[in-house]
Amino acid sequence: MAGKLGNHITNTMDTVHFLLLFSSAVFAFFFFFFFLRSTAVKNNNPPPPPGPRRLPIIGHLHLLTPLLHHTFHRLSEKYGPLVQLHLGSVPCVVASTPELAKEFLRTNELVFSSRKHSTAIDIITYDSSFAFSPYGPYWKYVKKLCTYELLGARNLSHFQPIRVSELNRFLKAVTEKAEAEEVFNVTEEVAKLTSNVISNMMVGIRCEEEEEEAMAVIREVTRIFGEFDVSDVVWFCKKFDFQGIRRRSEDIRRRYDALLERIISGREEKRIHGDTAADFLDMLLDIVGKTDVNFTRDHLKALILDFFTAGTDTTAIATEWAISELINNPKVMAKAQEEIDDVIGTGRLLQETDGPDLPYLQAVIKETFRLHPPIPMLTRKSTADCAIGGYRIPAKTLLFVNIWSIGRNPKYWENPTEFNPERFLRSGIDVKGQDFELLPFGTGRRGCPGMILAMNELVSIIGTMVQCFHWSSGDVAVDMTERPGLTAPRANNLFCRAAPRMNLSPLIN
Ligand code: HEM
Repeated sequence: MAGKLGNHITNTMDTVHFLLLFSSAVFAFFFFFFFLRSTAVKNNNPPPPPGPRRLPIIGHLHLLTPLLHHTFHRLSEKYGPLVQLHLGSVPCVVASTPELAKEFLRTNELVFSSRKHSTAIDIITYDSSFAFSPYGPYWKYVKKLCTYELLGARNLSHFQPIRVSELNRFLKAVTEKAEAEEVFNVTEEVAKLTSNVISNMMVGIRCEEEEEEAMAVIREVTRIFGEFDVSDVVWFCKKFDFQGIRRRSEDIRRRYDALLERIISGREEKRIHGDTAADFLDMLLDIVGKTDVNFTRDHLKALILDFFTAGTDTTAIATEWAISELINNPKVMAKAQEEIDDVIGTGRLLQETDGPDLPYLQAVIKETFRLHPPIPMLTRKSTADCAIGGYRIPAKTLLFVNIWSIGRNPKYWENPTEFNPERFLRSGIDVKGQDFELLPFGTGRRGCPGMILAMNELVSIIGTMVQCFHWSSGDVAVDMTERPGLTAPRANNLFCRAAPRMNLSPLIN
């Protein structure tokens, strides 16, 4: 009995030992398997970038303020140069260093070659915009058209007399204000100048001829494109228009459409009689319905709007910031005037082609772009999953490259808040999209096609303003606060007094 019991115990112990051994082996196997698997997952699937805690449904919408690039700058100071956020349900990342800008926009260029859409953009641009179109056949066709035809070297020199004549009108208007010793609205005069240049090149008219309406519509467009529409990112708000953005967009589109239809039908009437103008409108009417890609009347109207919104406000904003900084920094102003006096003198007006001979003026323009990029963030959308800086970035993520923040980062710029053009005389940094510390025109295939036109305009506008007048804001410094929107203009119109530095009448008549 005792033997049987002993045997039984021994058998049970063997079974227990066996079970223990077996379960240890199974445990070891699974442990090893899961360890290997989790390491593999970790290697293949890096973590998402850091960011603040996300709230249900709204994500991080509660953190946003109207000056989005300022908010993103503060978040990057807290969470690091790559921050992940969710705007409602839409994932987005904010990059705030040149190294990350390069990794996103050069190393992974194709993945980030599309742009974000919004209800306002789709309504106002007839859902046919070039600037907001996805990277594909339509975008490629229009990009080629811009680079080689519309904004190509031949066309730019063909339209140079228009730019000269508009600049002369502007200088004449300023001279009248200067002679009357009037404090006047520089913002308004510069906006008229840049709008007239673009509208004359595109549709052969000056904005004044089509009332103030054109300018008002364009300002409203850039403003509404920069507003954040909750119904675009929170699924259950899709059907609502809490902020009135849809209603305002439809109103803007109606006014823009009426304005442009008036211009286009006037031109079509003239073309019937063989009367052509050789401006953008004529070139575009020639190709409507005759291209391999679908290029309709709506595409034409959207492209003209793209050029208006991208090319007038931006150039005016850069000019105003440059003059504001020069007024607040009289030593820099004196140095710029001295250079222009030495190279050009007072016997003729500075021209676009003088740019290469005026390195200090070029440095003033670069320094203005560093502190006040007219478009403060480059915005793209990813079309595939990728890994950046060791972090996972899924497809359909919105990318914001905060170039405003990069321009103010002490890691890359000594005394970053100081307006000091000399820094660019010592460095080879340029604005053409190769130096990721300074990207006012963006970079790569989605970079700005109007860069050469804009730089030509800025040299001649800022250059002649500095050459021909002393500028003053009275006893107070010029206020440097920004207004919210897709662009970053001055919050308040620039009012100042100009006094002639030379006799302009024989030069501008
Ligand atoms: C100081 C003046 C200007 C500045 C600072 C500026 C800046 C920019 C920036 C930052 C972008 C986005 C680039 C990117 O995502 O990498 C852009 C795109 C664009 N710009 Fe400009 N721009 C200026 C003037 C102009 C002018 C004069 C025109 C045309 C008349 C123009 C037409 C465009 C167009 C059509 C796009 C969209 C390109 C695309 O999506 O492929 N811009 N610009």
